[in-house]
Amino acid sequence: MALLDIVTWPAPVLDTPGDPVTEFDERLKQLVNNMFETMYAAPGVGLAAVQVGVAKRLFVMDCSGGKDPEQRLVLINPEVLAIEGNQNGEEGCLSFPGIFTPVERSLRAVVRAQDLNGNEFEVDGMELTARCMLHETDHCDGIVFLDKMSSIKRELVKRKIRKLQKTGKWN
Ligand code: NI
Repeated sequence: MALLDIVTWPAPVLDTPGDPVTEFDERLKQLVNNMFETMYAAPGVGLAAVQVGVAKRLFVMDCSGGKDPEQRLVLINPEVLAIEGNQNGEEGCLSFPGIFTPVERSLRAVVRAQDLNGNEFEVDGMELTARCMLHETDHCDGIVFLDKMSSIKRELVKRKIRKLQKTGKWN
């Protein structure tokens, strides 16, 4: 296993929808293993392939931070089937190190995806699980959490990032 480099915004790959995964082979398994390793090391609860510079539709997540094996999930070619309700909570992103800001999301999300063997399954998640699945599925669609903020908040965050860039504290 190997740690992968996480790309930070505004890398173009983060703004580009990923390509569907069509090959469920050893290389994919290896990528997923490395993504888990990278996510746990960061540490984070979700990581999409575009965030390690791979323009494909898949992500890994574990809202338990490695404590509960059942929460270790890989979703390949994810598709949001249904959403319900609202939640507002602090959100971060490994491609925006140090930025945490409230983002409104659905309270519940049902997402259909394929596993490492190409078999379809569904995850019906609430609260943090829903937030994480929606955030990561957005990554697969070339959308970052900045795009989900109010325009005022977005400008504040961009200004903060510009300041960090100027002082060499970004990337
Ligand atoms: Ni993210």
